[in-house]
Formats: sequence, structure tokens, C-alpha cells
Amino acid sequence: QTATAPRIGVFDSGLGGLSVLRSLCRLRDDARFVYVADSGHAPYGDKPVDFIVARSLRVADFLVDQGVDMLVVACNTATAAAVKALRAAHPELPIVGVEPGIKPATQRTRNGRIGVLATEATLRSERFQLLAQAHADRIDLTLQPGVGLAAAIENHALDSATVRGCVERCCAPLRLAGVDTVVLGCTHYPLVADLIASQFGEDVALVDTSEAIARRTLDLRPLGQALGTGVDTRLQLWSSGDPALLTAASQRWLGTSCLAQPLPGPWN
Ligand code: SIN
Repeated sequence: QTATAPRIGVFDSGLGGLSVLRSLCRLRDDARFVYVADSGHAPYGDKPVDFIVARSLRVADFLVDQGVDMLVVACNTATAAAVKALRAAHPELPIVGVEPGIKPATQRTRNGRIGVLATEATLRSERFQLLAQAHADRIDLTLQPGVGLAAAIENHALDSATVRGCVERCCAPLRLAGVDTVVLGCTHYPLVADLIASQFGEDVALVDTSEAIARRTLDLRPLGQALGTGVDTRLQLWSSGDPALLTAASQRWLGTSCLAQPLPGPWN
């Protein structure tokens, strides 16, 4: 039975993709997931495009070796930089990417002022520029680089002064701009959604596309037979950084008891 069940590969520059994996697990607790946190090379958001493409291809090759039959790029920065290269390298594999949820934000805003919080690499990418231009005539977009925020979430406790200070610095310009909707344009940011929400009034909505991405993934590849309920057999976690951090983060966000493994040498 387990041999035919689909396996979904999910990767991110680090821990942020757990926000997407959490939605996938909630929708289908009978699926098999292989997750790679490229934490040894995180954050991607301040790295050159060539580096992000090279890392994404390397991680995807590892996941293909693990026998995944579809891939979720649960990282806005990697999607913006590398999804084309990934699709060219693996034409046989359905690949789902993520992008800042400007479209759902346009449906929520009342004052037409939307803030987009994303990495510098995502905001300057051609893919994002095209997305922003497609909505520019109807809404007022304030683009805010989340400088240091993904790295702070990777390396510090979520209630630490470092994370809090970074959230405050990133949110202040959006508050000043009077946005009523904030797009969380990096999969790390939903992990501190409460902290971000606390920087705004109750009338400001946060847009997190994790669940929409999970639904799109499962629509694309309906899963076959159920695997039973053994959490540890349905999930594999790999990290190019400190596996203990991924183990702890997955316990917190997914409620699993799965131990993360170090990503083996050639891929690390
Ligand atoms: C980063 O690695 O800088 C953030 C990843 C993302 O954009 O989702």
C-alpha cells in the first residue's frame, strides 16, 4: 500500500516552508512528505540569483533522488529566482511555486492600500515586478523589504528581542503608509503572524497564502491510498543546517515527533 502512495517534496531556504507543510498536513494527514530546509545556506533573500538557482537545483535533485513525484517550492525567493530553471531541469515533475498574495489582497482591501512584506530578492525579481504591475492601476502598493527578518526567524527564538525588533522595523513604514492589508510575501513570515498583526490595528488584515498553495498542490496531484496514521513514517525532514532546529520547529508547527536528518554531503 505504501509503495504506491505519492510523495510530495517540499523545500525552503529554511524553516519558513513549514508554514506551507503545516497546511498540507492539515488538509491531508494521509500523505507522505519529504521536507528539506536549506538552513545551512539561509537566508536566500540577500543572495545573488545564481546562488539561489544553484541551491534550488541541488535541493530538487536530492528530493528527486528520494523518489518524490511532485515538488513544492515553499519559498517565495526561490520561486522568484529559480522556478523556471527547476521546471526546465525536471520537466517530468509537477512543480508548485509560491508568490506574494497580491491578488487575494486586492479582494480584501477597502482603502486600496496594500503592503507587501517580502525579501529583497523577491521584490526585485522580474516575476514579482510583473505581478505588481498587473495590479498597479487599481491599487496602491507599498513594497517593504523584510530586511533581516527571515534570518532572525531562522536563528532566534520567535519571542526574542531580535525578532521583535526586526518585525517592528519592517512594519513601521507600512503602518505609516496607511495600508489596510499586508501580504506576507515570504513563507517565514506566517511563523510570526501574531507579532506582525500586533503592529497594526484590528482593521488591518494579513494575507497568508499557505493554505491556498496547499490546496493547489493537492488539486494538482490527488493523493491515492491512505497510509495510516503513523506520523513518523509519513514525514522525512532534512536540513543542511542544524537538524535539531528543524526538529524543534517541526514539533512546534506540525506537532510531530519526527527527527530531522543532516542533508548528506554532496547536497549540503
Ligand atoms: C529567505 O530565505 O530569505 C526567505 C525565504 C522566502 O522568501 O520565502
